[in-house]
Amino acid sequence: MSVVIEQPKSPRSRKAANWEKYGWMYMRASGAILLILIFGHLYVNLFVGQGIKGIDFAFVAGKWANPFWKVWDGLMLWLALIHGTNGMRTIANDYAERPMVRKVLNYTLWIVCAALIILGTLVITTFDPCIDPNASTYLPGVCAVK
Ligand code: HEM
Repeated sequence: MSVVIEQPKSPRSRKAANWEKYGWMYMRASGAILLILIFGHLYVNLFVGQGIKGIDFAFVAGKWANPFWKVWDGLMLWLALIHGTNGMRTIANDYAERPMVRKVLNYTLWIVCAALIILGTLVITTFDPCIDPNASTYLPGVCAVK
């Protein structure tokens, strides 16, 4: 049985939205935003200050003490995972010929994507470096000194 995949630029039918077109537009838009987010992330983590040698728990705690970096990292997580998963969906649709294989691959991709987004979002939103009562001794800049 052959499966017809809509052309990205085919006009929107009256019956259903053209999800293939929206997926294609998402890849372009998220790719442009990811350029800024990913290279900004690499620059700040690997070049500024001590560079790669400065990356440790305190570095992450210091960064996430600022809501700006939480939003930055959260956006990067959501956009990159949906972008990567949608890209892999395209590749699976191109290469997997049997409908069942394609279905299993697509379901697996989106389940893994959703799980990683939920876990990553939980980490970013609930992260508290000061749970340890002694944290103020090694993270004085982030946890209030007692
Ligand atoms: C610098 C940031 C990025 C830019 C500018 C970018 C741009 C793009 C664009 C424009 C496409 C669509 C290509 C097409 O339709 O022919 C694409 C596809 C894809 N991207 Fe990205 N992307 C970026 C980051 C990422 C990341 C972080 C991942 C993985 C998580 C990823 C995984 C993919 C995959 C799997 C495809 C599908 C490739 C294919 O269809 O053969 N990309 N990317």
